[in-house]
Amino acid sequence: MLAIIGGSGLTTLSSLDVSHREVVRTPYGEPSGALVFGCIAGQQAVFLPRHGYGHTIPPHRVNYRANLWALQHVGATGIISVASVGGIRADLAPGDLVLPHQIIDYTWGRRSTFFDGEGTPVTHVDFTDPYDPELRCRIATAADSLGIALKVGGVYAATQGPRLETAAEINRMERDGVDLVGMTGMPEAILARELDLPYAAINVVANHAAGRGSSANGIRFESLELVLQDAMVQVRTMIEHLVGKHDQLCVMPTART
Ligand code: HPA
Repeated sequence: MLAIIGGSGLTTLSSLDVSHREVVRTPYGEPSGALVFGCIAGQQAVFLPRHGYGHTIPPHRVNYRANLWALQHVGATGIISVASVGGIRADLAPGDLVLPHQIIDYTWGRRSTFFDGEGTPVTHVDFTDPYDPELRCRIATAADSLGIALKVGGVYAATQGPRLETAAEINRMERDGVDLVGMTGMPEAILARELDLPYAAINVVANHAAGRGSSANGIRFESLELVLQDAMVQVRTMIEHLVGKHDQLCVMPTART
């Protein structure tokens, strides 16, 4: 069963024919909200809004461990994360959809591992390729078959938030090789890996990153809502398509990153 974690702009999944909701208790505290179960295109799926139903949990306070643990507990076998980002790479404009392939983590102080309980053996998990190739392939294929423009490949930076970045921070990130910046991709991705849950992200560019393009003189978050609404229609369509084909083998549409 696929799980979808929705971010800003995706707090419900209209294509989900809801069967029930479940409040899951975890050893790590409360998830962001009740898990919503249902069917999309005849396949079971589960949805969780990362920031809670009232969009009240900021990125640094999301209980990532509880969210991931809860999803695995109810039988999720793969996770698609949907999250909005700021675009740094020159070709990224508001409304673009991106399938990232790498991560740089600039967050601090977040609970970022399941392997830290007393008596837990020291465990180093491989994270060379942070996103699952099969899931990425499914997402790229869905976009391809639907004629949805999805930019395949990108280095995602996770920042601490909730404040946005300075222009100088964005310049430094660009020198680091970052293409897009958000606040929630870590530790979500590594926690999924620690649980052996395939994980991939669809990023929606909400704005040019600080100091770039239309954000040259600042970012007004209120004006981003319309951009997100339109892009999320495409994200929902893609999810519908790929959940329906969850059991089929995937071949990447073209030789891309
Ligand atoms: N920076 C960080 N996170 C974001 C941004 C941004 O510019 N836009 C949407 N999420």
